[in-house]
Amino acid sequence: MRAVFLYVSGTGNTRRVCEALAGAWRARGHAADCIGLRGNAPLPDLTLYDRIVFGFPVHAFNAPAPALEALRRFPKTDGQKVYFVRTSGEPLALNDAAIVTPRRMLRKRGYILAGDLYYVMPYNIIFRHTDGMAARMWKIVLSRIAEDAKAIEAGTGGLPRVGPIKRFVSFVLRIEHPAMPWIGRRFHAAEDCIGCGACAALCPAGNIRMENGSPRFGKNCFGCMACAFACPKDAVRIGILDGWRVNGAYDLAAPPASDGDICRYCRRAYVKYFRRWEKS
Ligand SMILES: Cc1cc2nc3c(=O)[nH]c(=O)nc-3n(C[C@H](O)[C@H](O)[C@H](O)COP(=O)(O)O)c2cc1C
Ligand code: SF4
Ligand code: SF4
Repeated sequence: MRAVFLYVSGTGNTRRVCEALAGAWRARGHAADCIGLRGNAPLPDLTLYDRIVFGFPVHAFNAPAPALEALRRFPKTDGQKVYFVRTSGEPLALNDAAIVTPRRMLRKRGYILAGDLYYVMPYNIIFRHTDGMAARMWKIVLSRIAEDAKAIEAGTGGLPRVGPIKRFVSFVLRIEHPAMPWIGRRFHAAEDCIGCGACAALCPAGNIRMENGSPRFGKNCFGCMACAFACPKDAVRIGILDGWRVNGAYDLAAPPASDGDICRYCRRAYVKYFRRWEKS
């Protein structure tokens, strides 16, 4: 069987999960193409694949705008199976609402959403998790992917139920889609910038160009945070969101956090998530 792992990813969480899952898929003797979506780059020929795995991070309880833009370009089909791979920083049920619009878009085009693979990964905005928390999340991903690849092969899986309250909250917060390009125009580099160009190279929206050794931010930002996260000098200022800036990669190989080290924010939800997946 042949599968394509298409993903939108800012700070690499969704990419990492999709790559690990593609590795587990190959270990089952199948072929996999793993493709990160960048700007308006053309989609591969989806008719070539037995399975389509579509990854995206949850943004404000929604799929980010480029994920919806990519789905809009999916050709019509007759029952091809799709799996979502969703990553988010909080293990909150509200994040399930992020599948509603993408699922509707798939249905309209004749695809069957066969499963929703949801993984909690370290936060890339608002605050940092500890490396120990991040390592514990990553360990869970690695422990799940073999079974998840098996489910993709079998065409089995489940979808979360999304009730009216979750749908409503998600609908209201979709304001992020028109707001982010506006907020992103106020991004700029502080004096510590060394002109390395990493932000421009990493921006999945192609929204940053280097001019006289400094980054210039355009109007296509979708708030993925890749630029602020990866800047070696922590020099990217993210406008009105600057107090929520998170900079620097997590050490996923750190000793995993103990229960006592779980952050206070959403603590119960993390404990529940860790217990659920560490037991199975
Ligand atoms: C603009 C923005 C909004 C976010 N909104 C949510 C959210 O609603 N719920 C959540 O649990 N995490 C949220 N996150 C955290 C990301 O979903 C999480 O860190 C994800 O794994 C990032 O994936 P990536 O590295 O592939 O971009 C948000 C992150 C950003 C940048
Ligand atoms: S990544 Fe940071 S240091 Fe490098 S060009 Fe961008 S803002 Fe400047
Ligand atoms: S400008 Fe920064 S936050 Fe906006 S899309 Fe590009 S990398 Fe992501």
